[in-house]
Formats: sequence, C-alpha cells, structure tokens
Amino acid sequence: MLIRMLYASTAVGPITTTVTGTILRSAQAFNADNGITGVLCQGQGVYLQVLEGKPDAVSALYARITADKRHKNLQQLSSEDVTGRRYGAWAMAHVDLTDADSLLALRNSDALFETYPSTGERVMAHIDVLIAAGKVMGAPVV
Ligand SMILES: Cc1cc2nc3c(=O)[nH]c(=O)nc-3n(C[C@H](O)[C@H](O)[C@H](O)COP(=O)(O)O)c2cc1C
Repeated sequence: MLIRMLYASTAVGPITTTVTGTILRSAQAFNADNGITGVLCQGQGVYLQVLEGKPDAVSALYARITADKRHKNLQQLSSEDVTGRRYGAWAMAHVDLTDADSLLALRNSDALFETYPSTGERVMAHIDVLIAAGKVMGAPVV
C-alpha cells in the first residue's frame, strides 16, 4: 500500500538557492534509498511538498520534516491511500514558485480547478500544470 500526502508550510527566513539546494540534495539521496518520491515547490516564502511512499516511511519522514526549523506552520492539505505514484519519476522534483504567476495561480487554484473535490487535489492538479509547463527543475533522479 502507498500513501500520498501534501502539506504547505511557511519558510523561516529567506528561501535562497543555497537553502533549497541543500534541502534537495539531502532529500533526493534519502528518498531514493527509502522509496519516497514527490515534489517540492518553493518560492515567495512558501513550501508545498508532496510525499509518496509506504505509509511508515512517509510518516517517519514527515515527522522529521515537521521538526525542521527552516519552516513553520505546516498544514497537511491531503493524505490518501493510492495505488500508484503520481511523481514516481522523481526522488524529489523541484518546482520553482518564485515567478509570481506560478504562486498566484496556485493560490487561485480553487477557482481554476472547480471540478476537483478536495483542496489537496486542486493544488496537485495545478502542480502538474506547472510541471507540464516546464517549471520543474533538475533531471529525474530515480
Ligand atoms: C521544506 C522541506 C522539505 C524537506 N524534504 C525532505 C525530503 O523529502 N526528504 C528528506 O530526507 N529530507 C527533507 N527535508 C530535510 C529534513 O527536514 C531533514 O533536515 C533531513 O532529513 C535531515 O534530518 P536529520 O537532521 O534528522 O538527519 C526537508 C526540509 C524542508 C525544510
């Protein structure tokens, strides 16, 4: 069984390319070894992250991420049992939200994705739009 969960958080301090690069490097190494895939969206003081994997692995990682002082106010937007991975190509994809339109569109995704039932699904649908539009950075590592 697999779960997919999505949370949003507020960055503590400015999100620089150094901070993001450090997070992504450790995330990609650890996640690849532990069957975790997902996407980290970052920019304008906000993180949005999807974690997919075995339930125990995802909750253990989420507990560590929650304790990380580089962000605060973590809000779980969705968590669901799934039969397949949505971001299986990436140990942790990186989507840049520094472009104002990207984040604005995510904030407005309620209106854009009326047909999706949950906030989590709307946000993930929009993340997929950003990935399709080439906002995903870095090569797949899995
Ligand atoms: C927004 C954010 C996302 C993160 N995502 C991951 C991740 O997907 N995988 C991972 O191993 N660490 C991730 N980290 C880093 C962990 O919080 C933690 O620093 C790292 O796993 C090392 O943990 P340790 O200091 O307990 O060894 C993330 C940190 C932040 C701030």
